[in-house]
Amino acid sequence: MERTFAIIKPDAFAAGSAGKILARIYAEGFTVVGIKKLYMSKVEAEGFYYVHKERPFFGELTDFMSSGPCIVMVMEAAGAILKWRDLMGATNPAEAAEGTMRKEFGSNIGENATHGSDAPETAAFEIPYFFSGLELL
Ligand code: RTP
Ligand code: MG
Repeated sequence: MERTFAIIKPDAFAAGSAGKILARIYAEGFTVVGIKKLYMSKVEAEGFYYVHKERPFFGELTDFMSSGPCIVMVMEAAGAILKWRDLMGATNPAEAAEGTMRKEFGSNIGENATHGSDAPETAAFEIPYFFSGLELL
C-alpha cells in the first residue's frame, strides 16, 4: 500500500464540487486516511509549493491557493501516487482526458481543481506538511 497527498483546491471547493470529487476517490478504491478543510495563508501556500518558487506563475499560484478554503487529504491505495495523478488528469484541464477530475472540474491551467503528489519523495514532504501522525491513525 502507498500513501499520497491530495488537495481539493479552492476553485473546486467554492464551486461545491468536493462531494463529487470525493465520491470518485472512493469509487476508484482509495482509502481516505486523513481529511480536513483549511484556509491556507499565503505563507503556508508558498511553503507548500516552494519547489516552484522560481517559476513565473509562483505568485499567481500561491495567491490562488490562499484565496479560499480547500480540502487536504491523505489517501491510500496500491500505487496511490500514480493512480491519483491518472485520475486527476493533465495539469491543463483543456488537455486532460475525458473523465478526469481536471477535465470535469478544472477551469484553466492555474485553477485546475486538484493537487496530487508527483513522487514518493514529494508525498513524504507534503503529508507531514499538513498532517500529524495522530491525524493519520
Ligand atoms: P499540482 O502540483 O498542483 O498537483 O499540479 P501539477 O503537478 O500537475 O503541476 P505543477 O507543474 O506541479 O504546477 C503546480 C500548479 O501550478 C499551477 N500552474 N500554473 N500558469 C501556469 O502556467 C501554471 N502552470 C502551473 C497549477 O495550479 C498547477 O497545478
Ligand atoms: Mg506538481
